[in-house]
Amino acid sequence: MFNGSPHKGNTWQLVKLIQENLEGISPESAFEEIQLTDLQLPFCTGCSICFRKGHEYCPHNKIMEKIIDKIDESDGMIFAMTTFYMQPNALTKNLIDHLSYMVHRPHFFKNKAIVVTTVGGVGGNSAANYLVGFLKGIGFNYCYKLSVASYSWNNYMPDDKTKIKCKMLAERFHKDVSSKKTHTPSLGVLIPYNLFRGMSLGYVKGTEYETEDGVYWINQSRSKSTYDPLVTVPFYKKIFGNLFYVIGKTASKFITVKYKK
Ligand SMILES: Cc1cc2nc3c(=O)[nH]c(=O)nc-3n(C[C@H](O)[C@H](O)[C@H](O)COP(=O)(O)O)c2cc1C
Repeated sequence: MFNGSPHKGNTWQLVKLIQENLEGISPESAFEEIQLTDLQLPFCTGCSICFRKGHEYCPHNKIMEKIIDKIDESDGMIFAMTTFYMQPNALTKNLIDHLSYMVHRPHFFKNKAIVVTTVGGVGGNSAANYLVGFLKGIGFNYCYKLSVASYSWNNYMPDDKTKIKCKMLAERFHKDVSSKKTHTPSLGVLIPYNLFRGMSLGYVKGTEYETEDGVYWINQSRSKSTYDPLVTVPFYKKIFGNLFYVIGKTASKFITVKYKK
């Protein structure tokens, strides 16, 4: 569990409730809780080296690798964040910024997550949808969402209705994660995936502005497939994905994202 909220406040209370339910269903389950504040991740500098040369060259890679490894190792992730003016709080957004290159080169195909947020009254859904959309963009196979209006400054007490919601969510999540089955990607996921698959052809080794995208997508199993081979894609979605691949490939002949050498 990543707590992207700047403190152990209302959102953390809600996550603890989900955790208790998960432990009730599966007493042998082990939780690791990481407070993003403790990681002292500096702000993304905007150097764009992750996009161009690879995330290993990020000036904050030591911290980021730990985060990526933790997600890779997990069976299921809980992302907690606070909603500040209808969007994820800055600490969470900073993590998103550091992982943004993965929208070009998605990675977490086997992972499933729950996104949890609390908000005073209004805007929690748009914040949660933002993070869910991002996680899907970087490969997450499935994301559950819980957004709750706390009507509280740091003194939140979940009501009975919320307690039932947490119980049901924990049951669904546990069942899904332990099944180890993957969900087929939505059309909304296939569009950017296949656009990048096509556009990456403009950045392969030997082109004027080669990037790490050109390396990632050239892999045989990836370049020929509408989605990661770990995930089954029905025939009609393959046609849909390939259509966007062709659009991306065509666009790569007319548009090149340049950089200073
Ligand atoms: C900087 C800041 C911005 C906030 N923005 C909103 C907002 O846009 N809408 C709202 O209803 N509540 C807003 N709130 C209230 C919090 O979302 C709410 O109290 C939340 O439950 C706090 O969760 P936490 O204790 O996990 O941080 C804001 C609070 C702070 C401190």
